[in-house]
Amino acid sequence: KWTMGSFIETCVAEMQAKIGETGQVVCGLSGGIDSTVAALLLHRAIGKRLHCIFVDNGLLRAGEREEVIGFLTAHFDLNLHTVDAQDLFLGKLAGVTDPEQKRKIIGYTFIEVFEREAKAISNVEFLAQGTLYPDVIESVSFRGPSAVIKSHHNVGGLPDRMQLKLVEPLRELFKDEVRKVAAQLGLPDFIIWRHPFPGPGLAIRVIGEITAERLEILRQADAIVQQELHASDWYRKMWQGFAVLLPVKSVGVMGDDRTYEHVCALRLVESVDAMTADWARVPPEILARMSNRIINEVKGVNRVVLDISSKPPATIEWE
Ligand code: XMP
Repeated sequence: KWTMGSFIETCVAEMQAKIGETGQVVCGLSGGIDSTVAALLLHRAIGKRLHCIFVDNGLLRAGEREEVIGFLTAHFDLNLHTVDAQDLFLGKLAGVTDPEQKRKIIGYTFIEVFEREAKAISNVEFLAQGTLYPDVIESVSFRGPSAVIKSHHNVGGLPDRMQLKLVEPLRELFKDEVRKVAAQLGLPDFIIWRHPFPGPGLAIRVIGEITAERLEILRQADAIVQQELHASDWYRKMWQGFAVLLPVKSVGVMGDDRTYEHVCALRLVESVDAMTADWARVPPEILARMSNRIINEVKGVNRVVLDISSKPPATIEWE
């Protein structure tokens, strides 16, 4: 009988057989469930011969790095390399406003950083990826040129360039099965039920030009959205919920003064597979709390709007 427990045993045994007694493996950790579960399975199989690389590209949400990496460091004895590449990414993105250009830059910069880090580890033979079964059967699942990023996420091209062999412990699993394996491995709900977060991160949610200041405004607004979703059961009911910073300023009033500040949009969607989606009918009280808190607590935002578009014809992300 196929169970999650027997999956873990079989998978660990297969990985050990494939990698052998001495093989060194690198894998990119993104903080998402797939790469985390792939890493933990390999960690069981080969221990410290697995080298995890976490790249901080400066485009992560508030607390993301601390939460996921902090948890993994506290509970698992992983060989973890964290790379601070914020300045590199933000430098290359300076002045760039086109969404696909942003994706391209983030994609190649990620590969550059990852490759440099991986090369510093001696005798690496394998690259591990958290590829799932649906990715195997349908290797291009994102709209248009962002397929490039899909492969960035899975560091496509890298195995050939670095002459690495691929190991994909999750390649027979669907998402719900990965969640079951994650629970079996002792991962907490905040990792198991984490909303998907795109590879290009907040870069495609700061519409238009990305600056450290605009990123920080979005990060604070988004943290409030996350807190309010977690405070109700909407986080779990929803596919994704986040804030978007618009390249528009609007007039407001505070006390006796006129303000002229940023506009923030709330994107809260339900979906089963991200191919289609609808805006989530979140109760007005929750929306009101998000809006009031963002306007009162986030310096630089004086207006919040709600995105009520379905996919298609809109997409989930704004860029
Ligand atoms: P859209 O915006 O196309 O998004 O409706 C569908 C799902 O894909 C995610 N997404 C991305 N993920 N790199 C990623 O890794 C990307 O470039 C990218 N663009 C969109 C989006 O968050 C949603 O879950």
